Amino acid sequence: MARDEPLLSNRPSSETSNDRDLAEEDALLTGQPTQRNSNSPRTWKFWREVGLFVWALMATAFVVILAVLYQKSQDSGPSSPEPTGKRNLIFMVSDGMGPTSLSLTRSFMQFQNGAPWSEQLVLDQHLIGQSRTRSSSSLITDSAAGATAFSCAQKTYNSAISVLPNHEPCGTVLEAAKKAGYMTGLVVTTRITDATPACFAAHVNQRAEEDRIAEQMVGDYPLGRVVDLMFGGGRCHFLPNSTDNSCRADNKDIVGLAKKNGFDYISTRKEFDKLKGGAALNLPLLGLFAETDVPYEIDRRNDDDVYPSLHEMAEVALQALSEATRGSEKGFFLMVEGSRIDHAGHHNDPAAQVHEVLAYDKAFTSVLDFLENDETEGVLVGTSDHETGGLSTARQLHATYPDYVWYPGALSNVSHSAEHLDYEYKKYLASNPSSADKESFVRDIISSGLGIKDFSDDEVSKLLKEPNTALYQYADMVSRRSQTGWSSHGHSAADVNIYSSDPKAALALVGNHENTEVGDFLRDYLGVDVESVTKELREKGTGLTVTDAEGNQVSWMGEVPEDGQRLDGQDHLPNYEGDFRKRHWNHGRGCDCGM
Ligand SMILES: *[C@@H]1O[C@H](CO)[C@@H](O)[C@H](O)[C@H]1NC(C)=O
Ligand SMILES: *[C@@H]1O[C@H](CO)[C@@H](O)[C@H](O)[C@H]1NC(C)=O
Ligand SMILES: [Zn+2]
Repeated sequence: MARDEPLLSNRPSSETSNDRDLAEEDALLTGQPTQRNSNSPRTWKFWREVGLFVWALMATAFVVILAVLYQKSQDSGPSSPEPTGKRNLIFMVSDGMGPTSLSLTRSFMQFQNGAPWSEQLVLDQHLIGQSRTRSSSSLITDSAAGATAFSCAQKTYNSAISVLPNHEPCGTVLEAAKKAGYMTGLVVTTRITDATPACFAAHVNQRAEEDRIAEQMVGDYPLGRVVDLMFGGGRCHFLPNSTDNSCRADNKDIVGLAKKNGFDYISTRKEFDKLKGGAALNLPLLGLFAETDVPYEIDRRNDDDVYPSLHEMAEVALQALSEATRGSEKGFFLMVEGSRIDHAGHHNDPAAQVHEVLAYDKAFTSVLDFLENDETEGVLVGTSDHETGGLSTARQLHATYPDYVWYPGALSNVSHSAEHLDYEYKKYLASNPSSADKESFVRDIISSGLGIKDFSDDEVSKLLKEPNTALYQYADMVSRRSQTGWSSHGHSAADVNIYSSDPKAALALVGNHENTEVGDFLRDYLGVDVESVTKELREKGTGLTVTDAEGNQVSWMGEVPEDGQRLDGQDHLPNYEGDFRKRHWNHGRGCDCGM
């Protein structure tokens, strides 16, 4: 940024120090006289060096004073070179994407496109740093504590949605941005009530309380409505339990509540297309395009007429928010999440994952294009909340296994996610087929869905015998053939990458940082007062209760979890408890796999 320039451009050149010999420099650093100089007479050359050095010191001090004065005049100044200070901030989250997801996806992309080894992802070209991700309750964070580090810039316990370890709410950057006059938006591919988006516009003690999160996000909480645009899935949490496809425990109509609070509501691809790329829409707008999660990109691309893609949603949001802030002194804050990279990690499904990361890379590119063409100053910063799956682009489980190999080709033949094929299989089983039919169905799924022709009879019979773990069996068949390794069905403590459109504007995030520093950057860039939001939340929230599904009065932030209890609320992961792993390794493919 401009205010750094006087310091950098007027710094005395290093020629003066080049003149000094190394021993002298060493002496200056250590404070110990050098051997050589202590024995030799002080020559004119020596005093000239000293003179030059003192001159350099004074010049540096002078420049520092100038820089401080310059910065002071900027801070207090109508004379600022940025006439309005108007700025847009796009924060992107790649949920569950660790560094290895990039090498996995890059190699896949190169294979698929027949590109040379030097071909990079767009993300690769914008790497600026890394983030350390631990939460207050665990070395391995979940997405709730991870996103609270971004939204509140504070560490909290796993499962907390912008609530601190003492169960007080913390004001978020989005809430503060709204108060300061910015427009705000959230774009995701999971449920809009899932942890990452929830952490920007809701406060609950446990992430599983998605019904309550839905209410808060449309404005039914102490601050009123703070989000101007929401795109994603999770419709079932907005529909009363008396309707089909509701997943609410109560009969509250949250779409109705949203409309009462001023939202336009859309739920189909057709309505999305009518927004004309963002030119024809009214804010606030709530767009919920799936009952729960938007399908994985590897599946969604076959249902393009049903669900918009991540980059399409991001582009419409950017256009709409830009349009809506055109006459304003403030810009907008938009969070865009590649939500399901994480789910592909949980499922240990490498084929689903590469398509999720490519979709995120595309959305990242859309944001870069927007920033390039928009006249308002703006920056894109992106990072992950954590790594998922303990992914490695290698799988050498036998002591005798000799080769260093990883085969992207095995991923390019996969046409659907393990999740989708599992769903198809369960639907088929519900129709009570004969056992001969069942076997040919399974064989067909393996060859057409997974693109695997060399499957064994054992693999088929295991799928017939244990349909409940079919999802993991499919993912494992692909992982083995591509030689992709996984160490967990959960998250890991790996550091994750930080990306930006502009390393100068995001200078504070260059290098290795605690995840809360990402949160610090967001509020600093927008120049918003988050503390006053925290104060307002605590004042207005004290003693505030809501009615739960059983008719009881509970705190507006819901029940407090028992201390030390690890609450996770990931009902989309029924096998998360490790149950699958125990049974999984029993199968007889002749692999002793170190068990
Ligand atoms: C629907 O919600 C109401 C409370 O709002 C509850 O009394 C009722 O039992 C719920 N019905 C079902 C089927 O869950
Ligand atoms: C992918 O499919 C093609 C065409 O069926 C086949 O030739 C190739 O061997 C397959 N690759 C892998 C790794 O299975
Ligand atoms: Zn996760």
